This record gives sequence, structure tokens and C-alpha cells, in this order.
Amino acid sequence: MRKIWIGLSLLAMVALPACLQSTAATADATTTQDTTAVDAAGDVTVTWQTDPTNTPKSVHMTWQHDPATSVTVQWTTAATDLAGYTPKVWFDTAANAGTDGAKMTYSAAATATGTGEYYYQSLVADDTSGAKYLTWTVELTGLTPDTAYVLRAGTWSDYQAGAFVKPDLTPNVLTVHTAPQKGKRQPISIILAGDSRGGNDKIALNAVRLAAIGAAFWVFNGDFTDFSQQDQWDGWFDAMHPILNTAPLMPVQGNHEVFPPMYYGQFALPISAGVPDAYKEHAWSMNYGNVHVVGLDSTSAAAASDQAAWLDADLAAARADPDIDWIIAAMHYPAYSACTNHGSTAWVQKSWVPLFEKYNVDLVFAGHDHDYERSWPWVNNNKATTGPVYVVAGGFYADGYTNGHDIWTAVSEHGNKSNYVVLTVDGKKMSFIAYNGDGTAQLDTYSLTKN
Ligand SMILES: [Fe+2]
Repeated sequence: MRKIWIGLSLLAMVALPACLQSTAATADATTTQDTTAVDAAGDVTVTWQTDPTNTPKSVHMTWQHDPATSVTVQWTTAATDLAGYTPKVWFDTAANAGTDGAKMTYSAAATATGTGEYYYQSLVADDTSGAKYLTWTVELTGLTPDTAYVLRAGTWSDYQAGAFVKPDLTPNVLTVHTAPQKGKRQPISIILAGDSRGGNDKIALNAVRLAAIGAAFWVFNGDFTDFSQQDQWDGWFDAMHPILNTAPLMPVQGNHEVFPPMYYGQFALPISAGVPDAYKEHAWSMNYGNVHVVGLDSTSAAAASDQAAWLDADLAAARADPDIDWIIAAMHYPAYSACTNHGSTAWVQKSWVPLFEKYNVDLVFAGHDHDYERSWPWVNNNKATTGPVYVVAGGFYADGYTNGHDIWTAVSEHGNKSNYVVLTVDGKKMSFIAYNGDGTAQLDTYSLTKN
């Protein structure tokens, strides 16, 4: 018998069928009731309400391991009892379940269980003296490469003998497309953006449109909020909801992640081999298809210096990998910026630019300055025919800054236009378009082809 579950937010309570009443009878008063109906074909349709205490909020996806075979889902709830809530993700392929998940069918093998962890509003890791918050984290593994999945995050109060009872899941279905198998070259679209600070209303106005672009994933270059307090984070997640439902987002830390544990507590990121202990998740890398992406913590000179040895090894391995055509580096502070608010960053130039040049990193994306700038290929402080291209795309609806021009400047646009970059990789060809905030104008187009 095939079972179909349809999530609804119902006000009307309907009596449970006899087969489910025993479990419902033990539920607390806030647990909602399920209804079932059996059609002529024997399909069972279950509808449910969600216990508000268990309703997932701020749901988002990242990668901790291979994006071809895994994805990590995170959320929070009003419920904060680690022992009383088991985070679960129910998933299926879009081919089976439809892109809206309407035909999702349950099997125990298609659920994954995770853990909850508290984090604290503090300036330093492991300080538990500040306000306490909670993130639930579930990693799906063993997925099929290059496959569209649908999933719902949450929990359920009872699961007995194949009966899927009282689920408290996201009312919406999340979608993710796993990366192609390593070495397989096919079109990939990535969106790069950063610097929201106070721009949540504008994000909300644009999020549905941005989600519809259908990027495989996002890279976010830091400065999500003004001061990193939880209510500001909640506002950011709310505004980003349509985007975060459709693609993983891989972030780096900005200087406005004032309380770093608030940022690291909400984003599970790769623990890349060889990263110094103090910089685990601060510096990470991953391969998606033929693209190597490296994220860096640029928030201090010491951080840049301390990550340099790992970055050297990481870039060397990526550049030597015949499956990798493109290397993209992401960080908050720009190596080169002609913006009059902040400008270039000496410690990034000192610790990392020699490595970007050594390994011919294709694109170096940063934020921090709320404008849009692209450099010429820039090597040894001179315009070159090939070499790293530095992009400042720091205006994901934060208030704009005044742009400028310098010897490296190829394109420069005032920050009052906001910006985001849509990058497409198709085998040996890479191109990107920088758009203004409402997507009505192109600020820049750029393309590169390799032999
Ligand atoms: Fe910043």
C-alpha cells in the first residue's frame, strides 16, 4: 500500500482513525491530530498539523562533506529540550516525489536523524555565559550524485512499525541538487553575494525571484546582520527563506559577525583536512563538479596569516587535480577595493595574494565594501593577460557605499545599486553577470575560457 502524506496547517481537529488513536492518546495537549483517508486504489493520505513548539524555523542547508553525495540541513525550534526532540529529515528524489514533494513516500531508509547543539552569544568560542540558543543539524549521506532531492525537516512524535505518526515537519518542501560526480563536466550555476546588514526588507522583496534563478548553491561573503544578535539573525533567515529552501548556502565570516559563535553555531561547514584547530569551519574548501571553492576567514591579520599554510596546500592540491578546472576563493575583506569606505586589505594582500597568484586562482570574491568592483587580471600589482580577477560584490541590500577607481579597476559601480553575481560554469567556460539589486540591470559581464 502506498502512503502519501500531505502537510497542512489545519484549524479543524478531526478524530483519529482507530489505528492511530493509541499513540495520539499519549500525546501532550499541544500535539496536533492526524487524519487519514484511504482511496479506492489503497493509497493512504495523511494530513497533519504541526505542533508550534516543534515547528522548524530558519531552515537552511550547507555542505560539510562531498556535495555529490551529502547535504546538511539545519534549523531551530521553540522546543529547546535536547532529550525531548529528535531532529529528522525525510527525503526523496524529485523524480519520485515531484519537485513540490507532493508524492513523497515514507521509508525508514529515507529519513536521517541528527543532533541538537546549543550555542551562545559570546565573543569567543566555548564561552557558555551568554544567551543560549539551539540549532538542530541533520546530515544526509549516501545520496546519488547529480540528482534533485526534495526533503522536509523537523521531527515526529511517534514512529511505530512503519506508521508515520504526528510529524512536525516544515510545511514547505526544500530542494537540493547534488553535485555531479567528480570529473564530470556539466553546466553549474552559483550565486555569490554578501553584506545584508539591515537589508532584510529588500531581501524579502527579491528572494522569490532570486530563488527562481535556480543556482546549485550560494556563496555568502559575510556581514549577514548588523550586530549578530539572534533577533537580527532570525530576520535574515526569514527574509532569505525562499532562497534557503532551494539551495545550500556556503558562508564565510564577516566583521559584523560580532559574536562569532552565533555565526558558527548556525552554519555547519566542512572540516577541511589540515585546517588549524582554531580555524576549523572558518576556512573550508569543497569541490562541486569541476569547481573548487575555498572559503576563508579574513577578519584579522592573524587569521589570514594562520590560514596561509593550509591555503597553500589546498590550492596546490586543487590546481594539480585534473578534475578541477576552476578555483574560486571567497572571503569578506577584499584584497583590492577602490571603495572610499574601506578599500584594500593589507593582510589579505600580504598573506593570500601571493598564493592566489602562485596557483592562478581564477576568481577572488569578497564583500565588506558595499559596492561592485571587478579588477583586471592582476599579478604582481600589474595588469596581466591571465591571473586572478578580484571581485568586490558587497551589497546584498545593505546600504550602499561610494565606489572608486584605482589602477586595478576594470569595472566599478556605486553601492546604492546593490548587487549579486550569478556565475555559470560550463566545462572549460566560465562566465558571470553582476546584477543590480532588483535584477533589472546588469552591472558587469565577464567570461573566461580555458583550453
Ligand atoms: Fe564588513
